Amino acid sequence: MIKKAVFPAAGLGTRFLPATKASPKEMLPLVDKPLIQYAVEEARDCGCEELIIITGKQKRAIEDHFDSAFELEDVLMKKGKKELLEMVRKLSHINFAYIRQRAPLGLGHAILCAKPFVNGESFAVLLSDDVIAPGSTLLPEMIKIATEKGATVIALEMVEESEVEKYGIIEGDDEGGGLYRIRGLVEKPKPKDAPSRMGVIGRYILTPDIFDILETLAPGKGGEVQLTDALNILAARRPVYGYLFEGKRYDAGDKLGFLEATVELALKDSALSAGFRKFLVGLMNNELSS
Ligand code: G1P
Repeated sequence: MIKKAVFPAAGLGTRFLPATKASPKEMLPLVDKPLIQYAVEEARDCGCEELIIITGKQKRAIEDHFDSAFELEDVLMKKGKKELLEMVRKLSHINFAYIRQRAPLGLGHAILCAKPFVNGESFAVLLSDDVIAPGSTLLPEMIKIATEKGATVIALEMVEESEVEKYGIIEGDDEGGGLYRIRGLVEKPKPKDAPSRMGVIGRYILTPDIFDILETLAPGKGGEVQLTDALNILAARRPVYGYLFEGKRYDAGDKLGFLEATVELALKDSALSAGFRKFLVGLMNNELSS
């Protein structure tokens, strides 16, 4: 079983400036929930009880979001707004540890900051930019494979050739059932240098020996300590697996992906879908006739 989950959230969010100048990108809402809450709920749904958020400057709103809110709860209680009260209370009953990453030195460095809390166990890493459609079984499947094999498992997605530059790309041997034994990884290669089109997406089950590698790892691409480089070293020592995800993932760290996620999640929201669908159909008709 995996009990611990790490959420790197110290990035600067430059792709969403100016919105992210003083507010964390992890708090941008998709319909009515901040990005990081989708990832937190995903981890909780598969049994992770200790959640570690790696924060940085301008990230206080994340801690406030998951804190108790006595005044708000009191007002909701007095007004008899039971459903809203439940929704708000649910968030303040989760165990979080917060660690500050003092400088944005990369994903590998962010994960290394969690070492004292991880305590020698395998753990999950969830990047909240990558939103997996709620209800997906990706993370529980990865946990099952990682537990059975006693190994690291990374989520993969087949990406367009033009998109390989946005991802860590793997080279691996097909073991069937969507599982790949990873032979090597390259961080954000040029399409001509990419060993495949299988991109790493932001869900990892890591074994604790990754920390020994991260501790001595030199900065890589972009001058940052890259998790991809550490995984490459690990894969040369012992089996590391990739698990190909065929469900729906939104790249909410990108404006277009964020808009797609907003529209699709709003269409799945029972309270919004009828009205929103009508609006979208009207909009499309107007576009087509103009
Ligand atoms: C990070 C990783 C990259 C991975 C991606 C998934 O990049 O470095 O290997 O493919 O997450 O979202 P970032 O998107 O943080 O630049």
